[in-house]
Amino acid sequence: MALCASSSQKLFLASSSTENGRAKERNGRRVSINYGSRREFGVHVRMAAASETAYEEGQLEMPKWAGENTLSRLVKALISIKPLFSLLKLGARQVLISTAEKNNIPWREKAREILESDVYLELPTIENPSLQYPDYYLSPFHAYDEGNLSWLAAAEAEVATMSVARRALPDASSIEEATKILRGNWLQAVEQHHMKYSGNSTVESILDIGCSVGVSTRCLADKFPSAKVTGLDLSPYFLSVAQFKEKKGAPRKHPIRWIHAAGEDTGLPPKSFDLVSFSYVFHECPERAIVALVTEAFRVLKPGGAIAITDQSEMPPALFTLLRSTEPFLNEYYLTDLEGRLKEIGFVNIETVLTDPRHLTMTATVPHQHD
Ligand SMILES: C[S@@+](CC[C@H](N)C(=O)[O-])C[C@H]1O[C@@H](n2cnc3c(N)ncnc32)[C@H](O)[C@@H]1O
Repeated sequence: MALCASSSQKLFLASSSTENGRAKERNGRRVSINYGSRREFGVHVRMAAASETAYEEGQLEMPKWAGENTLSRLVKALISIKPLFSLLKLGARQVLISTAEKNNIPWREKAREILESDVYLELPTIENPSLQYPDYYLSPFHAYDEGNLSWLAAAEAEVATMSVARRALPDASSIEEATKILRGNWLQAVEQHHMKYSGNSTVESILDIGCSVGVSTRCLADKFPSAKVTGLDLSPYFLSVAQFKEKKGAPRKHPIRWIHAAGEDTGLPPKSFDLVSFSYVFHECPERAIVALVTEAFRVLKPGGAIAITDQSEMPPALFTLLRSTEPFLNEYYLTDLEGRLKEIGFVNIETVLTDPRHLTMTATVPHQHD
């Protein structure tokens, strides 16, 4: 089932700019998105998606509860108290599951289906036993003590993704529609960036770093069917689920290749991809990892190739507090000047658009001329 791109979906990027941190006046409206002193850019996005819903343009600020203010310090202090942290973590997990199930996402049923399947047979075919995990990756995460390195986390990853779409688009008529809009608008932004800056070259090779259980990877492969697509992740459990699910789907002209590696050190040849995607990866990473990941993307991209980052734009304080007990780097993500980092590394044509009310998509190009 293709839940990602639909040719009937339209994403109108009425304005999008990061130049000099200035809000732009386009299409007769001035819109400014202010991420505190770190970043400031104008984003004015109107989207007519499957539902023909026109979203309000973004008026986002760096969340008040992120950074180093009193509220943020209070949240940090609360979660540093061990028993309270455990309680919050457990509560966060229960809230996530029960909210998902109230929204008709069959969380436990879907997870059970995977846990009771033959997915385990994929692990030895995919795991790189000599891989050194970055230290930050070994912390407890998403309320799983082993972080992303567990079968339970892998079995629940796709339903967790559906919940993200539902939270972002509560008015969509179904989970499927919410997912279609969220993924469709992201892909549309990527395609538009490519059309604008690629000089009409086709997308022949795509690397999806942090591919998890393959949802974003399959979306990219569906959207660009002539491309060779690679999904790369640090979790061999997630990759096992990705490979297991892909085997059950319709065969593709170019089967997706799955790689167990660190996105900071992919071992892939330089200048070999037209598109490198990071979909919902950076909010799980400390800033040093974000910089290393973007640097590696620059290395493996062909001149004229594009990076596409889609991730959190804003989050209600209650959700942030809940998630902060299970997302150790969320605050750091919000404090990272991503556009500034992209520029320092050498990317050009940096654009940021709000692709749904909760998420942004940032795209940029590797200059045609560079060493
Ligand atoms: C929220 S999931 C991504 C979901 C997926 N891309 C999608 O859009 O549905 C984040 C993923 O990033 C992976 N990840 C985090 N740090 C990574 C790194 N340094 N290298 C490769 N993968 C990483 C995690 O294992 C996890 O699978």
